[in-house]
Amino acid sequence: MLVIHVSVECFPLAKVGGLADVLGALPRYQRKFGVDAWVVSPFYDKPFTQDRSLSLIHEGDFMQGSEHLRYEVLKEEGDPLGFPLYLIRIPGKLDREEVYCYPDEAEQWIAFQHAFLHWMKSAEIMPDVVNCHDHHVGLLPFFMRHSLEYKGFSEVKTLFTIHNGQYQGWMNWNKGILLPKFDTWKWGLLDWAGVINPFAAAIKCCDAFSTVSEGYLQELFEQANGLEDLIQAEQAKGYGIVNGIDDLYWNPELDTLIDKTYRRSTVKSGKKTNKKEFCERYKIDSTVPLLAFIGRFALEKGADLLPQILEHIFTNQDNKISIFILGSGDERIQESLSALLDRYEDRFAVFFGYNETLAHQVYAAADLLLMPSRVEPCGLNQLYAMKYGTIPIVRKIGGLKDTVLDITEDGGYGFVFLNAEVNEATEAVERALQVIEDPKALHKIRQREMELDFSWDKSAQQYIKLYNQL
Ligand code: GLC
Repeated sequence: MLVIHVSVECFPLAKVGGLADVLGALPRYQRKFGVDAWVVSPFYDKPFTQDRSLSLIHEGDFMQGSEHLRYEVLKEEGDPLGFPLYLIRIPGKLDREEVYCYPDEAEQWIAFQHAFLHWMKSAEIMPDVVNCHDHHVGLLPFFMRHSLEYKGFSEVKTLFTIHNGQYQGWMNWNKGILLPKFDTWKWGLLDWAGVINPFAAAIKCCDAFSTVSEGYLQELFEQANGLEDLIQAEQAKGYGIVNGIDDLYWNPELDTLIDKTYRRSTVKSGKKTNKKEFCERYKIDSTVPLLAFIGRFALEKGADLLPQILEHIFTNQDNKISIFILGSGDERIQESLSALLDRYEDRFAVFFGYNETLAHQVYAAADLLLMPSRVEPCGLNQLYAMKYGTIPIVRKIGGLKDTVLDITEDGGYGFVFLNAEVNEATEAVERALQVIEDPKALHKIRQREMELDFSWDKSAQQYIKLYNQL
């Protein structure tokens, strides 16, 4: 079975969020179970494409409105990622440094999807399934059914995987002329509330859609940024498959990026060394519990609550704690956090930016990881944390709800709070501090969570089952 994953992010080529991590791992695990899984992504002007050997395997051209676009398909030689990676390069459109935030994003993603199908058709590649990830490639199921040129793919099954329903790729109808020509009376399939909505079009035209956790699927029926009715109407096509983690790359036993490797039986001394080294580098107290936050400074992640949560935690004299934050985004959040730095110098440190190596070191060093998310389709950070024996403190939402069991439950191993609010998050942190004050309790929780299996094996098989069903 040939399955082609189409996505604008893929680790280590281009990563903004968890989408990249999924694309960098899932196909490799699927291949383990006998599926021929490929990834097709845009070409970016990034270290990855400069360092790797890429060979040109196809060239073509098409019209996008009145613009004549030439594209190249490049393949990474030797498949070092464990799956074939194909990159589509379009000079002037898909050859830039960043993934998002260009004013002509709609043109970029339309061109990407068009070039993909143009290549498939000219090279006579006939996959069994096209697995589209998020709205950037949400027009593919429509093009494959209703565009005049690519209708030949109408028998190819499409799975639309939702990593984030907040963004839907809305574009004004004046972009309609840029799309490959289609049966015009089918325009309604592209439309939602008077604009072209690629996310909605994907839900309408795909054979099935999946969310990256079961909990998130249920939430989308109630809260899907305007698409609740549509998702409810199409729910028979919906599946929830929780993400896994790449346990070659996120594994304290094999991790070359951390100070000292460790496993379940050596977690106590292993984490102690990592924490000591880490805290020394960032000049924070290593003798008290270390709480971390890693992620984008966005409302979705509840990052706006952090300055106040920290303030509350630090002003309570009973709380013995050091805090480290790694992330970037909203400038105002960054400023409020910076303001706290001077006041709590030896207890608080931050790194503003994206830093993969540092993330590994934080998971290895920290005792607790806080995720006060408002929306969390799956969340990978809590899974990475647990793999490294770091205890998650999470809001009860989406994938966090599905993967973290509160300590008060039978066999529980985390701390869960109900609402994304400062007081609730603060209380949860204080509850955690009280529990882990007892070294035996801390050890027991670590043992429990490090035993959990969050590898991709199970979920990769669930995807395959769904492909077969289609
Ligand atoms: C998005 C979601 C996150 C999920 C990831 C991978 O980044 O916000 O919750 O884990 O995609 O599916």
